Amino acid sequence: MAGKALLKKIVSPKQLIGEIAVPGDKSISHRALILNSLANGSSQISNLSPGRDCLSTTTCLKALGVSITKETGKEPVILINGVGNTGFTEPKDILNAGNSGTTIRLLGGVLAAQPFLSIITGDSSLRSRPMKRLIEPIRLMGGEIYGRHNDSLAPLVIRGRRLHGINYTLPVPSAQIKSAILLAGLLAEGDTTLQGQTSRDHTERLLKRMGANLEINGTRISLAPLKTPLTAVDLHIPGDISSAAYWLVAGAIHPNAHIKIINCGVNPTRTGVIDALLAMGANLKMENKRQEGDEPVADLCVQSSRLKGVEICGGLIPRLIDEIPLLAVAACFAEGKTVIRDATELRIKESDRIASTAKELTRLGARIEELPDGMVIYGTKKLLGAEVRSYSDHRLVMSLTVAGLVARGTTSIRNARVAEISNPHFWQELKELVRNSFEHGGSL
Ligand code: S3P
Repeated sequence: MAGKALLKKIVSPKQLIGEIAVPGDKSISHRALILNSLANGSSQISNLSPGRDCLSTTTCLKALGVSITKETGKEPVILINGVGNTGFTEPKDILNAGNSGTTIRLLGGVLAAQPFLSIITGDSSLRSRPMKRLIEPIRLMGGEIYGRHNDSLAPLVIRGRRLHGINYTLPVPSAQIKSAILLAGLLAEGDTTLQGQTSRDHTERLLKRMGANLEINGTRISLAPLKTPLTAVDLHIPGDISSAAYWLVAGAIHPNAHIKIINCGVNPTRTGVIDALLAMGANLKMENKRQEGDEPVADLCVQSSRLKGVEICGGLIPRLIDEIPLLAVAACFAEGKTVIRDATELRIKESDRIASTAKELTRLGARIEELPDGMVIYGTKKLLGAEVRSYSDHRLVMSLTVAGLVARGTTSIRNARVAEISNPHFWQELKELVRNSFEHGGSL
């Protein structure tokens, strides 16, 4: 899957200091690629996520006949030649979404409305993640879509056809499923109306900007089918808050840290990690907040903090779903206990993130109780280095690295290379923060 395995050894640096930028937001990058491919006209995307997941989306779109090229300069730019509503061509082979749930689910919605057959699969992790949540609404729209294991798992076989809009209540607050239905609804007959708990809204923002007729009323979204194709838009993708979050927590729990992350996306459907850290008492500030295109952006500053345990549950969960393993690390260094609930969705991510987080942090000496829908973490303010597993889960690797930055002794992470699924620059960013520490007189 993600290249040769790599055993990473982490020891606690004396200091973590510096100003860094993290790569472009992964969720926005997938949408920029897919929607601009579906649009009329060409677009230029800068700061696209360099992660493997977005590469999977690019490769699938190319196999559907879209020209996507890279112009390398001081800042690399991706050029997309949009093919319009009817320009995709039947793929000659099976599409491969790799490890990316966003790729398979969003493209599943698009392909259901295209007049040809496609088969889409992924790696062993993706092939074990639930697809019924996609298959059911697409079938309600008149789509012909099948999956392995009684229509619940990938590979998916899609015989594209004319769809009709639906009025649907999302059973889970999933941005991937919401987006898949909206993408299918663009080319359907009649309106599509969705209701359900709020989840990240990058698709809605971009669709509006590109000319779709979309109305949002609280948790209700109505979309009219396209009368004319979407208009291609040039985009500069903001830094990924889910990548920045590792440095926010590292800065908060390391006793000698001062970190600034510049140009980071702060879309309110994604800033749950900031709210949770602030509630825990983190010394964290948002500065220079501004609007770039259709997304809010800011600089984030964090310093060593004294954290306290909190409760993380309810409507906050979808706003920090990918950051829960990391918040569990923060909770180990808080005073008192932290309770995470309502997060059953974590069990069906790249790994069962409740089980994998609890098990691997326990190896480092954490006190964690697993709950069916979350965990209870007793802050002991102490971890001890040990060898831990990655479950080939990028977010677990990066969370365990942050734990290793404050643990006593050496933390060895097996198969750490998978960090590149979302952030191939992760190790370089860490090096920079540690190197700056040397320049400020620190030592390992
Ligand atoms: C994503 C949505 C979330 C998130 C994933 C990215 C997206 O998944 O966990 O990392 O880009 O739409 P769900 O839609 O399954 O909640």
